[in-house]
Amino acid sequence: MKILVFNGSPRKSNGTTDILLEAFIEGAKSSGADIEKHHIVDLGLNGCRGCFNCWWVTPGKCIQRDDMDKLLPSIVEADVMLLGTPIYGRNITHYLQKLLERTFVFSLPEMVARDGETQHPGRVRKFPSLVLAATCGFPDSSNFDIVKALYPMALQIFLPAAQLLLYEEGKKQLSGFLETIKEAGRKIAAGEELSKEMKDALIVEFSDEMKKEIMEMHNRYSQSQSSK
Ligand SMILES: Cc1cc2nc3c(=O)[nH]c(=O)nc-3n(C[C@H](O)[C@H](O)[C@H](O)COP(=O)(O)O)c2cc1C
Repeated sequence: MKILVFNGSPRKSNGTTDILLEAFIEGAKSSGADIEKHHIVDLGLNGCRGCFNCWWVTPGKCIQRDDMDKLLPSIVEADVMLLGTPIYGRNITHYLQKLLERTFVFSLPEMVARDGETQHPGRVRKFPSLVLAATCGFPDSSNFDIVKALYPMALQIFLPAAQLLLYEEGKKQLSGFLETIKEAGRKIAAGEELSKEMKDALIVEFSDEMKKEIMEMHNRYSQSQSSK
């Protein structure tokens, strides 16, 4: 099983999104998965130019020459694509957006009716199944609403107030969540189904009391930084 991983955080391995990705990778490796990982910020990658050459002039080929040339074959070969993103302005980061725009080459120009919607059929035989891991700073899971709607078919891993992972105490509190991600990675790489309980446990929801505590902790930290 080949798992292709993209981290859309500019903080790369110093950030919180990467902690989620690495937990999944650790589990997947234990099932023998072959992992290819990229921090998108390190790639030479442009967004789509909207020229439609890949539809009508050079079918299936983008006119831009950049790192997407070597990533597109990797996407086609992958069984699973694990996408990581921090929430920026309630959405995915522009790093991940650029990458996703460039998968436009995989679509055919025709429109077809499918699953109650009008769609473009795929040019490739299969697209990898998606796992989406997102982190955000606020303690409310409503910050993931846009991302949830973008990828309803993806396995979703969401952590609000992800900065907790950067503190020993917070990491301890979230150790069960990280273990669940690891187990999900192991199961996915082994081709096993995930139970509803496990899927639910991959989306962290804080109680109102905990949200208040996180807010107060953040404000104390913010104050200490401003008065430096
Ligand atoms: C430009 C910017 C916009 C952000 N917007 C949001 C937001 O809309 N909602 C939220 O909860 N957190 C927001 N955050 C906080 C990040 O989502 C949070 O710090 C995340 O855990 C960072 O992930 P990383 O450590 O992997 O980079 C924002 C951070 C930045 C820098």
